[in-house]
Amino acid sequence: MVLQVRRFAAGSAVAGNTAWAAGDPFLSGILNTYGVLVPRNERFYISTIRALEPRVTDPELSARIDRFVRQEAQHGAAHHAALPLLDGMGYRFRSAASVVNGVVFGMAENLLPLRIRMSMVSCVEYVNAYLGHEVLSQNMLADSDPTLRALYEWHFGEEIEHRAVAFDVLQAVGPSYALRLLGAALTLPLFYALLGLGALWFGAQDGSLFRAAWWKGAWRHLFGRHRMLWRTLGHLGAYLDPRFHPRMRLDDTLAAAVMQRWNAHLQPIATP
Ligand SMILES: [Fe+2]
Ligand SMILES: [Fe+2]
Repeated sequence: MVLQVRRFAAGSAVAGNTAWAAGDPFLSGILNTYGVLVPRNERFYISTIRALEPRVTDPELSARIDRFVRQEAQHGAAHHAALPLLDGMGYRFRSAASVVNGVVFGMAENLLPLRIRMSMVSCVEYVNAYLGHEVLSQNMLADSDPTLRALYEWHFGEEIEHRAVAFDVLQAVGPSYALRLLGAALTLPLFYALLGLGALWFGAQDGSLFRAAWWKGAWRHLFGRHRMLWRTLGHLGAYLDPRFHPRMRLDDTLAAAVMQRWNAHLQPIATP
């Protein structure tokens, strides 16, 4: 499949609707955190993969890297442009995000060898893709703020589309199974700790953390209707299988359907 690069044109979120994701303050806090971290995350993916590009000899993979980078750059730009929507809801997050980004990415980029960074990108890109698969296949964002729903569903759809690129680059430059495990061991605790702390941070600010709805939302997401704890363990178990490849899992038709749904927000960008 040839990756299509698209620009996302934002609208405006419903003012003051802090529980914008399906009326669920917990899910909203998780996705707010994810979105705040996207711009710096995407820069990390891009700088890592670009630094390794000269070692990739397969022209087909080189072409996919180029489109991957363009898709990720658009994700970073779109989530950055959406941050004022969170300001408008009354949240403070910019100082905390810049401290977290400075510490996490400063350490990763200055202390870790490139191949370990690539293994982390491969892992987090698979996480992005299975989160996208769960959000879209379970229609988690039905009855959500239309602009933010479109932003996240478009982004998750493209994460599904390009899910194999980072893994294929890792296989090209460092195919060792131990390296894959090391990247996962460094990435997963950090990723889920940041998501959890961020959800608490947003919930504390709007007060939902101190009401039953936040905790009911957390239960429903992790153990109840969405069953994300068990589903996440299933996805991660697959990644640890030595025969794993992202193309063996997840569903391109979900991504195609979402691009159709949000067509009015998306402007295709010509790519060479
Ligand atoms: Fe992305
Ligand atoms: Fe991605």
